[in-house]
Amino acid sequence: MAKTYKRTLVTCALPYANGPVHIGHLAGVYVPADIYVRYLRMRGQEVLYVCGSDEHGVPITIAARKQGCSPQDIVDKYHNIIKDSFKALGINFDIYGRTSSKVHEKNASEFFRKLYDNGKFVTAESEQYFDPEANTFLADRYIVGTCPKCGNPDAYGDQCEKCGSTLSPEELVNPRSKLSGAAPVRKKTTHWYLPLEKYESWLKQWILDGHKEWRSNVYGQCKSWLDGGLQPRAVTRDLDWGVPVPVEGAEGKVLYVWFDAPIGYISNTRELLPDDWEKWWKSEDTRLIHFIGKDNIVFHCIVFPSMLKAYGDGYILPENVPANEFLNLEGEKISTSRGWAVWAHEYVRDFPGKEDVLRYVLTANAPETKDNDFSWKDFQARNNSELVAVFGNFVNRAVVLTHKYFAGKVPPCGSLTAVEKEVLSQIPALKESMEKNITSFKFREALKDAMGIARIGNKYISDTEPWKVAKTDMERCGTILNISLQICADLGIAFEPFTPFAAARLRRMIDSPLDWEILGRPSILSSGHQIREAELLFGKIEDSQIEEQLQRLQRIREQREADAAAESAAKVEPRKAECSFEDFEKMDIRTATVLEAERVPKTDKLLKLTIDTGLDRRVIVSGIAEQYTPEEMVGRQICVLANLQPRTIRGIESRGMILMARQGDGKMRFLTPAEILANGACIG
Ligand code: MF3
Ligand code: ZN
Repeated sequence: MAKTYKRTLVTCALPYANGPVHIGHLAGVYVPADIYVRYLRMRGQEVLYVCGSDEHGVPITIAARKQGCSPQDIVDKYHNIIKDSFKALGINFDIYGRTSSKVHEKNASEFFRKLYDNGKFVTAESEQYFDPEANTFLADRYIVGTCPKCGNPDAYGDQCEKCGSTLSPEELVNPRSKLSGAAPVRKKTTHWYLPLEKYESWLKQWILDGHKEWRSNVYGQCKSWLDGGLQPRAVTRDLDWGVPVPVEGAEGKVLYVWFDAPIGYISNTRELLPDDWEKWWKSEDTRLIHFIGKDNIVFHCIVFPSMLKAYGDGYILPENVPANEFLNLEGEKISTSRGWAVWAHEYVRDFPGKEDVLRYVLTANAPETKDNDFSWKDFQARNNSELVAVFGNFVNRAVVLTHKYFAGKVPPCGSLTAVEKEVLSQIPALKESMEKNITSFKFREALKDAMGIARIGNKYISDTEPWKVAKTDMERCGTILNISLQICADLGIAFEPFTPFAAARLRRMIDSPLDWEILGRPSILSSGHQIREAELLFGKIEDSQIEEQLQRLQRIREQREADAAAESAAKVEPRKAECSFEDFEKMDIRTATVLEAERVPKTDKLLKLTIDTGLDRRVIVSGIAEQYTPEEMVGRQICVLANLQPRTIRGIESRGMILMARQGDGKMRFLTPAEILANGACIG
């Protein structure tokens, strides 16, 4: 059933322009897409590579409020940071557009309008939270209140970040608006919905029957959505940031960000190719591939295809949606809001010239079938012991020795021994495996194949020792170097998708072509071919560089712990049940002075205190030994509940209780009058 296509349209999830992109985004979406595109291009295929910033949605308006600027300022800032960091990493889209562009506004608007005119939407009235002071509807994220599950006073209307529960605004205790602090009220509003249930049987056929080859995580998510039954999805929102709903009577409403963003793929194509875009979107000869992260699966496999199907007019559907799982950082979930990330723009600043290394490590560790971890130690090890010690070292030896013994000219290839024959026979198999792996989106495996070629070369030159052979048999030495240089030329091709900067430097160094067809041929470079001076392909990464990164992460951890400690210290216990004045008056609270203090043997918490209450001298056992040493207590004036029923603790009769103030994190301090008073002064 394999269909042949004339061209491939590759899209990458449009990153939200509310923050920079991090290694999780790169590993999940952009690096694999780039490998795929570079590979297809190298094979002479016609490819269009489309991305751009996703500039609408509530998180952007929240970021703007936080930073005291407009949503446009936010998206301008991050659009440029993101765009530059992609470029620096060699991820060269044909267009990197943005959903705040005029082209997009027009295109998304038209798209909605046509579905609207053709009766593809249904409308429904619902009650939504409304801020009566700010006079605006509130997105779930704009409502905060106390989490019903854990008591966190600042839970969002959609989620509690403390305990991780998914919430709806109705569940919050004491909900309040983030805008004005006012208590939100319920108000009726009308929205447009795409009735997804109408597309259910069609989707089942298309995906569940027709795309069993999709990755199991993607197929599985689709199946569970489809088995669960689809429902109408709102495609509009009450918000003032986004593409206005192009319908009369829809003032104050915009298209839902997940409706307009995927249309952005089309808009960006139209921006680049105003007259020629349709062949990329409406031709059965085009293979459409969406690269995304796993949290985007439903939108790309169910919602957007239903939108395109509803629109009709020949729009094609994705042929595959290779979604990746998530990447963790040093064993913890990456989090933009908590700053737990390695940012692309900071990486290219901190590791100039090492863009390839990040691409390499993120591919070698790609979260293709399960979540995976990025660690700086692994990053360093992969650079130093794979890129430097194997790939770089091999190329360097071949090039340096060719200059040393043959004035930089490829020596002639004499008769081949069994060693060369064996080496040369392995390369075509690796090439074939790479082809299979890349076209089935198994980039980790494909990288292993490419690295396999480097390992073969490195082992070959180590085993045959041309620097020793040179002393006795220059012709044999020439043969070894000839074969080695052919393998270098293979590497200049095989690594183009993965480490494009190094691959280009290598091809320049040995003046070799970029042509997939010739990979594996033993005669890419003819004898006498002049090569350039050796230049290092990869440099070692020092411990100090890794330490610096680890320290940065450690500071984030410490900050987070300090914040958490401050927060729990500030946590206030709930008010107790009401008591009457008479109840209060029953308590005999007085000033007293500690005369003697000692630890209660075999306990960590208890001090035995002898105190002067003005009335008498008595013994109290108090659970404050973790807060105070006996020495700290002697001589101090305290307040004591003097008429508490005596209790025997560890065989000691305790008569009364010291008054302590206890803060949220458990820290306690005894109460003492502002000035020393006579013992026995009554408190109340
Ligand atoms: N901005 C979304 C995210 O980062 C992805 C949008 S993909 C698109 O999760 F298809 F909607 F553009
Ligand atoms: Zn909670």
